[in-house]
Amino acid sequence: MDKIIIEGGFELQGEVSISGAKNAALPIMAATILADGTTRLTNLPALRDINTISALLRHMGAQIETSNGAAEIRADGLDNPDAPYDLVKTMRASALVLGPLLARHGRARVSLPGGCAIGPRPIDLHLKALEAMGAEIVLEHGYVNAEAPHGLRAADFSFDQVTVTGTENIMMAAALTQGRTILRNSAREPEVVDLARALNAMGARISGAGSDAIIIDGVTSLKAVEYQIMPDRIETGTFMVAAGLTRGRITLKNAPVECIGAIRKKLEQAGLTIHIEGRDVRVQGPDRIVSTDVKTEPYPGFPTDMQAQFMALMTVGTGLSVITETIFENRFMHVSELKRMGADIRLEGNTALINAVPHLSGAPVMATDLRASASLVLAGLGATGLTELSRVYHIDRGYEKIEQKLSAVGARIRRIKD
Ligand code: EPZ
Repeated sequence: MDKIIIEGGFELQGEVSISGAKNAALPIMAATILADGTTRLTNLPALRDINTISALLRHMGAQIETSNGAAEIRADGLDNPDAPYDLVKTMRASALVLGPLLARHGRARVSLPGGCAIGPRPIDLHLKALEAMGAEIVLEHGYVNAEAPHGLRAADFSFDQVTVTGTENIMMAAALTQGRTILRNSAREPEVVDLARALNAMGARISGAGSDAIIIDGVTSLKAVEYQIMPDRIETGTFMVAAGLTRGRITLKNAPVECIGAIRKKLEQAGLTIHIEGRDVRVQGPDRIVSTDVKTEPYPGFPTDMQAQFMALMTVGTGLSVITETIFENRFMHVSELKRMGADIRLEGNTALINAVPHLSGAPVMATDLRASASLVLAGLGATGLTELSRVYHIDRGYEKIEQKLSAVGARIRRIKD
């Protein structure tokens, strides 16, 4: 397994291009199951998770050609609506094929995702919504066996809890289901909006995406299109924190400037100077970081996917900050590793109390999940001395060429084969 070595203490200067958003690309790739013909997706990030869903679609019989940042996907020949455990266990978002398979093929067999580092992460809300649309669902041997032999039926459904991929799964299923489906208490994330935009380009009739009530009027077929994936707001926030930890001055090119409001607000409270110019975000790190409290919330609140990165920023400076994680029950796996670097953090249930210290010191640390590994890279950039991050396959799930992008703005970072 590869390792990433970081020599901290270097100010970052320069430009970083933001890649396509993983969490928009995954549902949109699943949506190609619904389309007649060959869909062409551009601005696709080169990530492990993209490779995983591509392998899953191929396993089911779709044809996929990928080349530098683009994919051509043809799912007409898909004849095996089965998502096996060995593929699903590496990526929970594989559940996103369930809705499209049911809507287009009337049946699906998808492995239950199982747990992962940040919690059990069931898909009970997805299944409850599909049952409300008439799907017959049996759970056995760790699989979801779903059937809709006479097709799904439109429903007026309210989610008990906000779920991003749950909203996306049902939106895709409803797109090809006759009648008007209404999803209430739906997720408002920008990636949900990007999926709706892609589906409407394919001929779907979806309104209200981005609000907590989405209306889908089903159509009889959807056509393949060319679609450009939106830029990644979490990668954008991650690099903004990198500037914050290194007194750096970075310009983020082609960023999703319209959906980073909560991230920007908290980083400005922490002392960063942030200007938006067109599609670019210019960030200047402060001489001293201001301890700032954060509570994660569904969009448009502060994103849980930025919690670990923000915590890395809060470990240094002067003062006490309180970080409350309300979305996942165990998303503090980065805390013990940050403490190995000298951070002073105390956990009380879903709350972390961070007593800022003058600086962190580099250390050998281990990645446990995608955003925890980003947090440790950031901590290493600002720490004194060497940080050695193991199990970097976690970071490769969600960050395209992270060490190249950081090296290009002056970080001393390299990957070694272990
Ligand atoms: C999406 O995951 C993202 N992944 C996650 O990003 C992100 O952290 C999360 O939304 C929250 O914003 C993708 O979009 C591919 P949820 P998702 O369903 O949809 C519980 C990253 O780092 N829940 O909104 O799986 C669940 O356990 C990843 O890029 C149920 O109980 O998250 C969690 O506590 C990590 N039953 C909460 O709801 C369900 O049926 C929110 O989960 C579904 C969810």
